[in-house]
Amino acid sequence: MNPAFPPALAGLIAQMLEGVSRKELAARAQQLSAAYRAGQASHGMEQGDVLAYLLARAPATFAAISAVLARVKEVAPDFAPQSLLDVGAGPGTASWAAQAAFASLSSVTMLEANGAFRLLAAKLVPGAHMIAGDVSRSKPKSDLVIAAYLLAELPEKSVAMVARDVWASAAQMLVLVEPGTPQGFARIRAARAALIEAGAHVAAPCTHDNACPMSGADWCHFSQRLQRSRDHMHLKDASVPFEDERYSYVVAMCEKLSSGARIIKPVLEGKPGLTLPLCDETGLRNEFVASRDKQAYRAARKLGWGDLFFG
Ligand SMILES: C[S@@+](CC[C@H](N)C(=O)[O-])C[C@H]1O[C@@H](n2cnc3c(N)ncnc32)[C@H](O)[C@@H]1O
Repeated sequence: MNPAFPPALAGLIAQMLEGVSRKELAARAQQLSAAYRAGQASHGMEQGDVLAYLLARAPATFAAISAVLARVKEVAPDFAPQSLLDVGAGPGTASWAAQAAFASLSSVTMLEANGAFRLLAAKLVPGAHMIAGDVSRSKPKSDLVIAAYLLAELPEKSVAMVARDVWASAAQMLVLVEPGTPQGFARIRAARAALIEAGAHVAAPCTHDNACPMSGADWCHFSQRLQRSRDHMHLKDASVPFEDERYSYVVAMCEKLSSGARIIKPVLEGKPGLTLPLCDETGLRNEFVASRDKQAYRAARKLGWGDLFFG
């Protein structure tokens, strides 16, 4: 799996960046990374910054959101949303991913606080309805609501309230995606608890609605590899043509659909067999699949970090 920008979008972005100094974008991208590391919100970003975000960060957030939507399709294969609400839309990353994943979508609404991002998103998601302002603004009820890489920009104490608020706008499903860091996961965990309390069921990654069993220094996250374009490499001064985006996420639905167990870390491969680190309704556990158990072993070898396991 390597979710790259759809060709039409890549073309639009290339057009938009024609004549823009890569040197200046690279400098902006570096400032941006430093600001994100320092936990500074992207409210104050200007046109140059949002173009740097588009080139330096959006490929990775797009890859992570696309990976999550692929998980959604495994758990809810019949889910065919008609309306999307993209909260904290930035350049419209989640809207592109959702449009690529669901041909059924006929209306897209983006809510975004930053004016420079709104201008960019309006060009990149033609026909979308735009709401300017804070996440707390009144929002249209939509089949699918996505808030991607938004909670990191909000005070940690507001996470539960924001989760409940965006859930109230979800007619069928809410998807939250955050960086796969201990801080990103802490926000996902707090949001998950608030959503369950509000009556939601967790569709992914958890296969249960019990309290999250992760403890200590452990945090639930996944990884998506993406190819870097030449521009992307240049901007990041990178020497390898790919990067791995670590992300944490939660998908909430009105109905209970999930079952089985989630592989929450890389599978360990040894001579006697495979060890699958799992999370399910019994908590965290390791499942060992012996190589001499040929049929089970062959099936388990196809599985990896993030997949569902039905043992
Ligand atoms: C890191 S960007 C993520 C953009 C996009 N969702 C993505 O995944 O690439 C976070 C976005 O949330 C917006 N944002 C931050 N705080 C917000 C708030 N309180 N209300 C609405 N939008 C907000 C920022 O302006 C920015 O566009």
